[in-house]
Amino acid sequence: MAIYDQYAKVYDDSGQIAFSIKMIPYLEGLLQLHPVPGCTMLDLACGTGTVALSFAKQGWEVYGVDASQPMLDQAKQKAEQTSQELILSQQDMRAFVVPHRLALITCLYDSLNYMLSLGDLTQVFRCVAAALLPDGVFMGDMNTRVTLEEVWGNNTFFVEREGIALVMLSSFESQSGLSTVDIAGFVRQDDGRYSRFDEHHAEIAYPDEQVRAALEAAGLQVEAAYECFHFEPPEEDARRIMWVARKPGDRR
Ligand SMILES: C[S@@+](CC[C@H](N)C(=O)[O-])C[C@H]1O[C@@H](n2cnc3c(N)ncnc32)[C@H](O)[C@@H]1O
Repeated sequence: MAIYDQYAKVYDDSGQIAFSIKMIPYLEGLLQLHPVPGCTMLDLACGTGTVALSFAKQGWEVYGVDASQPMLDQAKQKAEQTSQELILSQQDMRAFVVPHRLALITCLYDSLNYMLSLGDLTQVFRCVAAALLPDGVFMGDMNTRVTLEEVWGNNTFFVEREGIALVMLSSFESQSGLSTVDIAGFVRQDDGRYSRFDEHHAEIAYPDEQVRAALEAAGLQVEAAYECFHFEPPEEDARRIMWVARKPGDRR
């Protein structure tokens, strides 16, 4: 079973949707600064599809890829409920393909931190480069080590919402830079009883120069690295960075 398979049904209601709601106007601002050659986009690791749907509502042709079919099922349900079209497929982001090249690819909310080696991260960026139109743009955010080491560290976090309780145990390994989070989720069923699920998540944060080198090795030109949700370069203690990179245009 993939990560998020069990989490999927309560992902939005547990509060995670707040990130996408904050991200949507930020992406609109980024698109003003980094225009793209058309209204076709892929949200890579689209999860429950909140960002993808916001583009579809504005008339974009939108693709969504995710490794978790239950997350995609949530996205599909939301698209049907709002009469929007999303073209969804279950694929691994290290080896995804799209039917035609696209103007914009996004990859949001830690999804890139799930790539546990620089080789995997570079492979994602290679697939992104292959799927972008010339002059197409990639926008992807990543947690920095500050988040994994200092914010998450070795801690217990607890989330409680109507009918949902999540207990998250994080631990950080200094040498590898790996953060693991064990999640125990308790979800109220129709009969009032709670069922439990368990997931083990692992994320790595890479130094800026390694992310930049991986984007460039994949053939993408870095246009900006922003303190996420701002339009300025990251401070040294930045917790999340938004990377914006463009596929070079045809020179013919
Ligand atoms: C924190 S969620 C973010 C979802 C969505 N982007 C959002 O902003 O709400 C991370 C997502 O990455 C997906 N994911 C993790 N590893 C993946 C992989 N190798 N290929 C495709 N999707 C992956 C998970 O299934 C999950 O939906």
